[in-house]
Amino acid sequence: MDNYPDTAAAPLPETDLTEAEVAPQLLPLAELHLHIEGTLQPELIFELAERNGLALPYSGLEELRALYEFSDLQSFLNLYYANMAVLQTEQDFADMTRAYLARAAAAGVRHAEIMMDPQAHISRGVSLETCVNGVASALATSVEDFGISTLLIAAFLRDLSEESALEVLDGLLAMKAPIAAIGLDSAEVGNPPAKFERLFAKAREAGLRLTAHAGEEGPPSYIIEALDVLGVERIDHGIRCMEDPDLVERLVDERIPLTVCPLSNVRLRTVDTLADHPLPAMLAAGLNVSVNSDDPAYFGGYVDDNFAQLQAVFELSDFDRSRLAANSIHSSFASEERKAELLDELNGG
Ligand code: HPA
Ligand code: ZN
Repeated sequence: MDNYPDTAAAPLPETDLTEAEVAPQLLPLAELHLHIEGTLQPELIFELAERNGLALPYSGLEELRALYEFSDLQSFLNLYYANMAVLQTEQDFADMTRAYLARAAAAGVRHAEIMMDPQAHISRGVSLETCVNGVASALATSVEDFGISTLLIAAFLRDLSEESALEVLDGLLAMKAPIAAIGLDSAEVGNPPAKFERLFAKAREAGLRLTAHAGEEGPPSYIIEALDVLGVERIDHGIRCMEDPDLVERLVDERIPLTVCPLSNVRLRTVDTLADHPLPAMLAAGLNVSVNSDDPAYFGGYVDDNFAQLQAVFELSDFDRSRLAANSIHSSFASEERKAELLDELNGG
């Protein structure tokens, strides 16, 4: 029901308010689904290529930007992995991470759980130490520098073998890498969660938290497998759960967090348009969903852009926006103390 029928069709009032004052208020929230390599902006790709003396296969920004038209997940992954070639030194990884944190702070992010893809760097001859220490060095001062608490998630590429993943997990544990969790990403269809049963068992034994991409392009059964075989606490994406009512009921009952990425789903053609996105239905079903940016440099926006576009299409209520922010905080791997601090902030405390 429209409670304000008189204002619905009214022209925007003339005002001297600044854009920031007119924009919907940014809620303090946690970003739980973010690939740090997916924050590499075209400008930074060129800057790093120059710094490292690398020739890019694009003549300039225009030619690169023209490639950001994707038909599915794989078409995006091809460009995402290719662009990583410019990441060579610890400084490169640190600069990319700091650029994300600065932009995320402006989007209202107060806690970020950041995935990185170590195997995508090792396979190019960049050491585990270089990529992990570079990202970690920026995360170590994220609270002082950007007011964002952070933790690092090592994500494993599901289109590679479990042996490769186990070897990299061993390397991370041996170097006492500051990781809090592991994740599972890359090409989903044909690479079901059960392929990584031993990897997730080993990570759990090492005291790591567990999350996995499932139900982005893959079927609802992959979500069930990620929960039952891998024992994950959180599902990244998970939107295809809506095809299985029994699964929805289970996810609601068990309060399983789903880290949804609306603009990503549009850009990778998982949904036709944002208006077709299941987020409102997911909220209505009582699912524990949050809004995240996934690979913001590739998908047209950061978490504030995701909220703004959702708002424009669905006219989310203040209640829904607060619920999405609260879900993100409750679903994080942060300490109970940090969660309480963020919830206080959200509630105007
Ligand atoms: N899906 C799967 N793998 C990924 C993604 C994604 O959206 N982004 C980076 N790796
Ligand atoms: Zn993702």
